[in-house]
Amino acid sequence: MSDFNEEESSGRRKFIRVTTIGISAACGIFPLAAGIPALLDPVKKNSGESAKVPWSKVAPFASLPEDGSPAKFEVVQETVVDAWTTYKDIPVGAVYLTRKQDEVIAFNLKCPHLGCAIDFRKQTNDYFCPCHNSSFALDGSVTTENSPSPRPMDTMETKVEKGQVWIRFQQFRPNIEEKIPLS
Ligand code: FES
Repeated sequence: MSDFNEEESSGRRKFIRVTTIGISAACGIFPLAAGIPALLDPVKKNSGESAKVPWSKVAPFASLPEDGSPAKFEVVQETVVDAWTTYKDIPVGAVYLTRKQDEVIAFNLKCPHLGCAIDFRKQTNDYFCPCHNSSFALDGSVTTENSPSPRPMDTMETKVEKGQVWIRFQQFRPNIEEKIPLS
């Protein structure tokens, strides 16, 4: 092989080595950079950023019993955005709504223990989860001694606007004392 060809071939090898190192470094740095805000702001990481949770219209305020007894509703989110896709009118869960004068209290239907559906018992005027027998008062507090559920029923932010009840619907981590949103 001539000197010229050897030189050209060595130059090409050097170029490939430098480019490979550059790409590897970039691949390592970008994911790290993306994680920096979460590392620097643990509160934001755990808060579920409730301000970013969209409002969903649930029911007319007038449809809630005036005596404060709970009514069950499905929650449908108008828009759910995945990484690449936008879905319309997706059922995301269910809630019990209770009227308290002009305000509305919302309880997630999912049991904070392991996520079974909680029933409202009219006869005893309380909530009951049939999976492992957790019971809750009308205000959501735990009433069972040695309750399997480690915390009260999960509440969510609500508002009443133009006669309609709106909710920021969220799911929470099961079976821990703290109420931590899943997203
Ligand atoms: S899931 Fe409700 S008590 Fe276990």
